[in-house]
Amino acid sequence: MSYEGFETLAIHAGQEADAETGAVVVPIYQTSTYRQDGVGGLRGGYEYSRTANPTRTALEECLAALEGGVRGLAFASGMAAEDTLLRTIARPGDHLIIPNDAYGGTFRLVSKVFERWGVSWDAVDLSNPEAVRTAIRPETVAIWVETPTNPLLNIADIAALADIAHAADALLVVDNTFASPYLQRPLSLGADVVVHSTTKYLGGHSDVVGGALVVADAELGERLAFHQNSMGAVAGPFDAWLTLRGIKTLGVRMDRHCANAERVVEALVGHPEVAEVLYPGLPDHPGHKVAVDQMRAFGGMVSFRMRGGEEAALRVCAKTKVFTLAESLGGVESLIEHPGKMTHASTAGSLLEVPSDLVRLSVGIETVDDLVNDLLQALEP
Ligand SMILES: Cc1ncc(COP(=O)(O)O)c(C=O)c1O
Repeated sequence: MSYEGFETLAIHAGQEADAETGAVVVPIYQTSTYRQDGVGGLRGGYEYSRTANPTRTALEECLAALEGGVRGLAFASGMAAEDTLLRTIARPGDHLIIPNDAYGGTFRLVSKVFERWGVSWDAVDLSNPEAVRTAIRPETVAIWVETPTNPLLNIADIAALADIAHAADALLVVDNTFASPYLQRPLSLGADVVVHSTTKYLGGHSDVVGGALVVADAELGERLAFHQNSMGAVAGPFDAWLTLRGIKTLGVRMDRHCANAERVVEALVGHPEVAEVLYPGLPDHPGHKVAVDQMRAFGGMVSFRMRGGEEAALRVCAKTKVFTLAESLGGVESLIEHPGKMTHASTAGSLLEVPSDLVRLSVGIETVDDLVNDLLQALEP
């Protein structure tokens, strides 16, 4: 029987009942190696778990199905996925375009690691396709997109940027961590590669670090698999299993994340202590129209700027009780953080520096009245 509904794929893709035991849940194949029936006689194609492991295969097939790609690859972290991708597609002399408010770790990888190996880059406002067109050079190999961005929640038009990239013979890479494949499917809009920190919404429970790549082209998938095996930053079997378990409930979790975020936004907009709320669901957000076209809903991430500047932002972060002060995002529990001093500290002094009055929320799936009341008491001066 074939199926294609998102939730059905999340629960079943790559996850047939175990052929020998009938186990409904894919087992944790906690093994590094596999017995061979005579030299080269592999059962099921597995020989060594850096190259492939059945629990990881299940996750990789599920990720490919959810993103509508031909191949998924699972890594030890989002950064490991990014590193493997960049080493596969870029070489000395090449050029990258990255968002001018990229995730701090991506900015650090490009500016502090790849630049040393002769890869140049420009940070561009990706919500402005003309600026991207102008920044393209003959040696540009990829446009790296985040939408919504971390932490400013800017929106980029994936289809428009795919056209610009392809006209220049470059790849369009989309970090889909904030939206998750439930809210946005970049490959269907023309992107070539989707990147994930599966640590976030895909895992969904703040208990595992992981990363993924999904591609639309089988040949690129082969090259990535070669580099994945060569560099070896793979997801371990237990991490793959935890991520698969999280994915099964992605759809219902995302619905609640989005609904709760909308209520939180309502409470923040117009609040006397809040200068500005950044959320693509707001009709006056500059990317609202594009977000309506390319996203199912607007996500669980909300950022806001405090009228009282950095001091007020730090005070709110210190005062919440249901929102936990912590880095990361996308788990069932609500988190609050100060990007300037926490997740984006590595951008200090650079053109990607984030405003010091900014607070970022990862709105969880708790009872929404508790979340709103917690924020309102923390906002009191
Ligand atoms: C948008 C985005 N991309 C990539 C990463 C890196 O992922 P990881 O922390 O799993 O290495 C993060 C982590 O916060 C992120 O927010």
